[in-house]
Amino acid sequence: MKRLIRMLSAMAVLTLLPCMASAYEVPKDLVIKRPEKTPQQSTWVGPVKFPHGFHAVYNPCKACHHEESDRSLGQFLPCTQCHIKSGLDEPTGFFRAFHNSSPTSCLGCHKQKRLTKQAMPPISCTRGCHKKQ
Ligand code: HEC
Ligand code: HEC
Ligand code: HEC
Repeated sequence: MKRLIRMLSAMAVLTLLPCMASAYEVPKDLVIKRPEKTPQQSTWVGPVKFPHGFHAVYNPCKACHHEESDRSLGQFLPCTQCHIKSGLDEPTGFFRAFHNSSPTSCLGCHKQKRLTKQAMPPISCTRGCHKKQ
C-alpha cells in the first residue's frame, strides 16, 4: 500500500511539473537600467545586459528574487521597485543590490563561484557587465 501511495504521489509530481514550470514567465534577456530618480555614480556606467534565462536555469528564482514568499510567489518584482536609494552603502540602494558581497547580488555570487572554483563568471566592471559602448 505504502509503495502504491509513493508511486501515485511521484506520478502526481511528474504531471504537475510542466504546469509549474510554465506558471511564470522567465524573461530570457534583460537590460538593467538605473531608475531615473537614482543619481548616476560614475559617468562610464551604462545599462547592463543581463542573460536572465541563462541564470534562471542554474539557480532557483529565490537566489535573486529574495523577497518572494509563498504569499507573493509569482510576482517577481523588479529589484528596482525597492532598490532605488542613492549612495554606495545603502542596503536598499540601487548599487548594493548588484554589488553586495552576498550571493543574492551579481558580484557577490560571481566572486563566490570563483572562490569555490564552481564556475568562472565575470567580475571585471568594464569587461564583464558595464561594457563600453
Ligand atoms: C541570478 C539572479 C536571478 C535569478 C536566478 C532569477 N532572476 Fe528573475 N530577475 C533578476 C533580475 C536582476 C531582474 C531584473 C530586475 C530589474 O530590472 O530591476 C529579473 C527580472 C525578472 C522578471 C521581470 C520583472 C519585471 O517586471 O520587470 C521576471 C518575471 C522574473 N525575473 C522571473 C524569474 C523567475 C520565474 C525565475 C526563476 C525561474 C527568476 N526570475 C530567476 C534576477 C534573477
Ligand atoms: C519588495 C522589495 C524588494 C525587492 C523587490 C528586492 N529587494 Fe533586495 N532588499 C530589500 C530590502 C528591504 C533589503 C534590506 C533588508 C534585508 O536585508 O532584507 C534588501 C537587501 C538586499 C541585498 C543585501 C544588501 C545589503 O547590502 O545588505 C541584496 C544583495 C539585494 N537585496 C538584492 C536584490 C536583488 C538582486 C533583487 C531583484 C532580483 C532584489 N533585491 C529585490 C527589498 C527588496
Ligand atoms: C547566484 C549566483 C549568480 C548571480 C546572483 C548572478 N550570476 Fe551571473 N553568472 C553566474 C554563473 C555561475 C555564471 C556562469 C559562469 C560560467 O559557467 O562561465 C554567470 C555568468 C554571467 C555572465 C556571463 C554570461 C556568458 O554568456 O558568459 C554575465 C554577463 C552575468 N553572469 C551577469 C550577471 C548580472 C548582471 C547579475 C545580476 C543582475 C548576475 N550575473 C547575477 C552566477 C550568478
